[in-house]
This record gives sequence, structure tokens and C-alpha cells, in this order.
Amino acid sequence: AAVGKDGYRHFMEKELHEHPSVIGQTLQRVVDPVTREVVLPELPFALADIPRAVITACGSAYYAGYVARYWLEAEARLPVDIDVASELRYRNPPLTEGGLALLISQSGETADTLAALRGLRASGQHVMSVLNVETSTMARESDVVLGMDAGPEISVASTKAFTAQLSVLAALTIAMGRARGVMTPARQQHLMAALLDLPSEAERIFQLGEQIRAMAHIVAKARDVLYLGRGSCFPIALEGALKLKEISYIHAEAYAAGEMKHGPISLIDDTVPIVAVAPSTILFDKTLSNLQEARARGGKILAFTDETGAERLREIAEAVIVLPHVDAFVAPILYTIPVQMLAYEVALLRGTDVDQPRNLAKSVTVE
Ligand code: G6P
Repeated sequence: AAVGKDGYRHFMEKELHEHPSVIGQTLQRVVDPVTREVVLPELPFALADIPRAVITACGSAYYAGYVARYWLEAEARLPVDIDVASELRYRNPPLTEGGLALLISQSGETADTLAALRGLRASGQHVMSVLNVETSTMARESDVVLGMDAGPEISVASTKAFTAQLSVLAALTIAMGRARGVMTPARQQHLMAALLDLPSEAERIFQLGEQIRAMAHIVAKARDVLYLGRGSCFPIALEGALKLKEISYIHAEAYAAGEMKHGPISLIDDTVPIVAVAPSTILFDKTLSNLQEARARGGKILAFTDETGAERLREIAEAVIVLPHVDAFVAPILYTIPVQMLAYEVALLRGTDVDQPRNLAKSVTVE
């Protein structure tokens, strides 16, 4: 049956509201409800034997992979290389046989990602793909497919498929950490509990709609917007900037907060809003001092944080949106939702064609 908008104005709005249920369904698929162990499809190789991973994808899927790099390195102690597929496919990197090629794609048809998959297979990598469309070309050419139950995604700009990809990759991280013997059962239980709480925490984000709309009024007037984040939330800053560019046509750039002083700080004045993706993790103080530097140059700080972070940010920020406090491990998943909602609200104010932005395609099957 044809997919409808179910009373929402755009597919993107509908799909944004599906984040909590899609995260929940995806986790149900990869987590045993009784033992709370990660359940992956049968693998033709042992996770414990994987020496290193190379992650590749395009667009938002690439940013999901970028989060996974932080997770796999820190929690599973796995060396990870990552690049966009259009670069990786021509880089010809030296790879050890038996490594893991981790491909991420909503459609499973993106030309560059598919070409990278074929190249990685030819160089002896085990091919694991995180896909929404499990009947796709990439699914057929992979050794193992991790599916994600996001349902059809119609809006050209990806939303729910992104948090579903992250949910699968978080589960994979736990499985990898356990298989490699570097994650204690206590750590596993802690991370799993944080993950399983996400659907209900995500539901609470929609209560912030009014505040996100108010923030959107500031962003909609800007010509340039700078997004800042650190650690596993840096890719969420990248995702926020990408979404804003794609659907509102406002120029946005994301920087790792600590790198700002090596470039974009020269662009900051009172016309440049700075969107901070800043949960109160161990990196919070570092981000805060970067934001103080931006504020000192007139930049308007628009922050996504939690209550602990808000106490410090309110002094320097024009707007602070307070999210539920969650474990740092799952913060990139939760923070994606308001960041994507902000882009949507800005696009509405700018009157763009939200579901079909100019020059973009849902699935890019040409190089
Ligand atoms: C296009 C879409 C993006 C998507 C990217 C990768 O650019 O507009 O939303 O992230 O392709 O698509 P894939 O299907 O491989 O995830």
C-alpha cells in the first residue's frame, strides 16, 4: 500500500515523529528481551577474529558511521578507519585480509557505497552492511546484513533511518566489545540499559517543539550557521549542518569544537548563530570554553544540552534547549532528534520544498 503522510504536513515531519518507535523496533530486533544480550544474524566469521574495521557510506549514513567509529574505538577497542565512499573507493588503502568492511546505507543502492563494497570485498574484507532496504543490491552482495526496521523513508533528507542505523551500530559495538573481551558484563549492562531507555527518552523530545520553533526563528534569519560538537556528538553537529543546508538552503558548517580556533572563529560575528550539540559529558567543559570564545566574538549561542549543562550555558547562550539526561554513549542518538527538528522548522519558515529539496535525490545511483 502507498505510504501516506498520516495527517502530517510533510513526510519529513511524520518520519521525525517515528524516531522513538523506529529506535524501539530496531532494538527489539537486535536485543534478546530476556537476556538483554545482542543478537546478530549468523555471521560467516567470528567477531573476535576481526583485527580492524573500515567504515564507509555517503551523506547522513556516513555520519552514522562516524559515530560508530567513536563507539567501536572507545568501547570495543577496535581500530577503525572511516571515509566517504566516493573517496574510499579510489584510495586503494592497504588492508589486512579478514578485516571488517562496515557499509551503511538506507537504500542499499547508493552507487559510491556499492562500488566501495565491491572494492573492499575484492581486498579480502568481510562485508557487513547496515541497511534499511533489505532487498537491495548491497544486501545481495554482503556477507551479512544488519537490518533496522525503520520502514519506508520517503523524505529525501534522512531522519528515522539515521537513528535506526545508530541503534544497530550501538548494538554491534556492544557485541564487538564482548567478543573481543574488552567490555565487562557490568559495562555491557550499563550501555544496554541506556540504549533500551532511549525510546521513552526520545518521546520526550517532542515536548520541546515550541522551543525548537523559537530557535528556528533565529536560525532562519541567518546567512551562515556554525554547528559545534565534540566526541561522538561531533558527527551530530555534522548531521545538523547537513540537514540545514539540504532543506533550508542556509549555509551551515560543522566543526569539532576544539578546531574552531583554527579557522571558523574568524567568521564569527553577531550575525552567525552557533548551534552547540553539548550534552554534559566529560568533554562538556572543553566545549563550554570554545563556546565562550565564540560568544566573546559576538556569536549567538544556541545550545542543545541537559539540565547540568544548562546551568553553565544559560549565562552565555541566546537559547538553551534542555534534553533529558542520558548516558554519553547514547547521547548522539537522542541529540539527533532535536537537531533534525530544528532544520525542519527552519525549512518551514523559509518555505522550501521540504520533502523534495532542489538538486537532491533520495537514492543516488550515479557516480
Ligand atoms: C542522499 C540522501 C541522503 C542520504 C544519502 C546516502 O544524498 O539525500 O539523505 O543520507 O543519499 O543514501 P543511502 O541510501 O546510501 O543511505
